[in-house]
Amino acid sequence: MMQILVTGGAGFIGSNFVHYVMKHSDFQVTVVDKLTYAGNLASLANLPTERFRFVQGDITDAQLVDRLVRTVDAVVHYAAESHNDNSLADPGPFLATNIMGTYTLLEAVRKHGKRFHHISTDEVYGDLALDDPYRFTEHTPYNPSSPYSSTKAGSDLLVRAWVRSFGVAATISNCSNNYGPYQHVEKFIPRQITNIIDGIRPKLYGSGENVRDWIHADDHSSAVLTILEKGVSGETYLIGADGEHNNKSVIEAILSGMGKSADDYDQVTDRPGHDLRYAIDSTKLRTELGWTPSHADFTAGLAATIHWYQANEDWWRPQKTATETKYAAAGEQTLYPTAAAPQ
Ligand code: NAD
Ligand code: DAU
Repeated sequence: MMQILVTGGAGFIGSNFVHYVMKHSDFQVTVVDKLTYAGNLASLANLPTERFRFVQGDITDAQLVDRLVRTVDAVVHYAAESHNDNSLADPGPFLATNIMGTYTLLEAVRKHGKRFHHISTDEVYGDLALDDPYRFTEHTPYNPSSPYSSTKAGSDLLVRAWVRSFGVAATISNCSNNYGPYQHVEKFIPRQITNIIDGIRPKLYGSGENVRDWIHADDHSSAVLTILEKGVSGETYLIGADGEHNNKSVIEAILSGMGKSADDYDQVTDRPGHDLRYAIDSTKLRTELGWTPSHADFTAGLAATIHWYQANEDWWRPQKTATETKYAAAGEQTLYPTAAAPQ
């Protein structure tokens, strides 16, 4: 029976992956997570104790990482500072966790000869024009825009160097924007759902023409499990589910899905350096490893996500005030006039 170490398993996608693995494999799972503001033990509730253990710790702690890595067969590395807006306000933690944390893990898997899977993002490729007929592939040159995406790009390059120079058995996946349960309310979709629940108008950055390529977190998890089991060492796989939507249409869909008027939102200050469009071509993963997503219907996935936040207020309520205070402190301003702005 395979034993895996999941870093960042108390975060959004890591916790979804742990639940997915419990359901679809017989793996034993150890999660190591620092429990930053983004980590939440409630996302890992009710897991079978005979197959799951949680260790609170920092992936930059080399002694702890060494101790944990030597006891497992493989490491699946999700832990990161993950939010672009935070990286613009304070890049330091992004360098520490995303660069030094990845380096610390790589040194441990190198020493103990363990398999490594590195979770990364499509943001390492920069952005595309709205009318670009091409999507990101494994051959697209790196061109990150933000402190967050540049540290993720740096961590990907470290993994490639450890494969080539030291023979570490590692794979990398770069995925597009995830949605689903357990996502922190600082992120776009849960922020708007919980704003509407609280009677606050949703906040659209700029004109909202920016496009993200949405994938359900469950589909990301099934892809990572596929790569862990069948991926070829040294290879990179792009993960995406053909889910391109612009932000304006997503906010309108959330409002309509919650019984509100579709134009009942505020346009607010745009994100500096805001990437225009991400789009993934996942042909390699589909043809070489036989993966297909199972949540093809974004409208249905969004409705289920809205329902999850409505039914799980206990999970997100403790994050909400601090998150909105952070956005206000960062200088978020409403840009009037908008279509439905109050007179
Ligand atoms: P998240 O912010 O929800 O979770 C990150 C987790 O890492 C938290 O539980 C946090 O406590 C933990 N963590 C942070 N610093 C740590 C440290 N130094 N040591 C140990 N644990 C630490 O992030 P997420 O959205 O779940 O993203 C997970 C991974 O997936 C990241 O590597 C991110 O770059 C990547 N990714 C995210 C998306 C997305 O849409 N959210 C898409 C593609 C790739
Ligand atoms: O593409 C993968 C990336 O997706 C991951 O690597 C990141 O970890 C993850 O956070 C996500 O990055 P984005 O910056 O795309 O996600 P975010 O949820 O912050 O924003 C999505 C889009 O919505 C983006 O164009 C900015 C916009 N936005 C965001 C917020 C929080 C708004 O219009 N209003 C908002 O209130």
